[in-house]
Amino acid sequence: MPDHLTVVDHPLVQHKLSIMREVATPTATFRQLLREISQLLTFEVTRDLALTTRDIETPLCQMQAPTLAGRDPALISILRAGNGFLDGMLELIPSARVGFVGLQRDEETLQPMQYYFKVPEHLDERAVIVVDPMLATGNSSAAAIDLLKQKGARNIRLMCLVAAPEGVAHLGQKHPDVPITTAALDDRLNDQGYIVPGLGDAGDRMFGTK
Ligand code: URA
Repeated sequence: MPDHLTVVDHPLVQHKLSIMREVATPTATFRQLLREISQLLTFEVTRDLALTTRDIETPLCQMQAPTLAGRDPALISILRAGNGFLDGMLELIPSARVGFVGLQRDEETLQPMQYYFKVPEHLDERAVIVVDPMLATGNSSAAAIDLLKQKGARNIRLMCLVAAPEGVAHLGQKHPDVPITTAALDDRLNDQGYIVPGLGDAGDRMFGTK
């Protein structure tokens, strides 16, 4: 297992993911499970957020209570499937700032080109959590992280649901400083760029577009 990769092997995560993988699982169930699993993955991906303390008064005494340090984290969704993670994550981190990166492949150069980019200010002072459920080739995640680094982001991590070994290797090579948290590391990519066994097109499954 590459050391920049964490596979969350918690039984609840694995159980929910198995239901999501099933072709017969309806859109509403898929969406609900995605929301739940996004929270369990967020728990893991935020494990090392910096803490400070502040003075509070309990009914019994004063104490120095732990509290998140610094600016609110930024959640960056890679369109469109990344949006499926946001609702659940924002329930856990309601003050998080949210950004969006839209990329599509330039048919001449075959490189990912941005068609939308809107991110919070002060990225250099935030923990930046990039969300993209399916880490397939890793091209779009790597391109999105390039753009975020150009905006000053330094403390970046990627949260996904299912990763392919090809995507993990590509991202590790392009951005070795970016840890990846996923619920599963699958076998491979097929000729169409789908993760196998995977769960199909995550966007279609969560938005019901097929
Ligand atoms: N994107 C998806 O939605 N699914 C895959 O299997 C690969 C990329």
